[in-house]
Amino acid sequence: MTLPDAERMLRLARRAADEIQPGMLAGLGSGTTAEALVAELGRRVAVGLRFTGVATSIRTRTLAESLGIPIMPLDEVETLDVCIDGADEIAPDLNVVKGRGGALLYEKLVAVRARRYVIIAAAEKLVAQLGTRMPLPVEVIPYGWARSAQALEPLGLKPTLRAAAGQPFVTDGGHYIVDCATGPIAEPAQLAQDIKALTGIVDHGLFIGLADAAMTIDDAGELAVQERAAR
Ligand code: A5P
Repeated sequence: MTLPDAERMLRLARRAADEIQPGMLAGLGSGTTAEALVAELGRRVAVGLRFTGVATSIRTRTLAESLGIPIMPLDEVETLDVCIDGADEIAPDLNVVKGRGGALLYEKLVAVRARRYVIIAAAEKLVAQLGTRMPLPVEVIPYGWARSAQALEPLGLKPTLRAAAGQPFVTDGGHYIVDCATGPIAEPAQLAQDIKALTGIVDHGLFIGLADAAMTIDDAGELAVQERAAR
């Protein structure tokens, strides 16, 4: 039996919310899956859970605060106990692609500060190889963006500027995004390094070696938790 999407997200959110214990400092992801988690945490705060969040986007901060979740700026935080976020593609080694929602830079800034980083997603996001389900988002400086995008092409990427309402989409950090067709990515860690080395590129949606666990839920509502093999 197929579970309706809203019910699936609720079930996943409830399981993920159990990761956040009283007194913790927790990174709160962005996107629809993470928002289901924030909504669940809002319900728990209303009945007594006390924790502090660090938001990965303006949208998440606004939602969390509207639900009574206290939010601390990243600049005041050294280390987070946990960060929980969605993803667009999850490889078997828990390397992931993120950024369809455009929040990849703030998401990565928070993720790298977390002692435990947990990805939550519908099981459809599980892939055998990154680059097979979605284009790879790359965040670029607006000045000279077309030249920066061109510089991605020798890496085998085919960039397209992301638009919203006929204008370039602008991230919370004030940058543009180019969505890059990649085909299956043979060496994600190498590609991540090569993209990052280019002038004009701020960051990209490859999150390599960051996730400690992936929590997924299939069509039927079956939850699975995959922990990263010891490093
Ligand atoms: C936001 O920029 C993204 O990284 C999201 O975390 C990712 O795209 C997953 O989003 P959904 O939960 O909406 O699928």
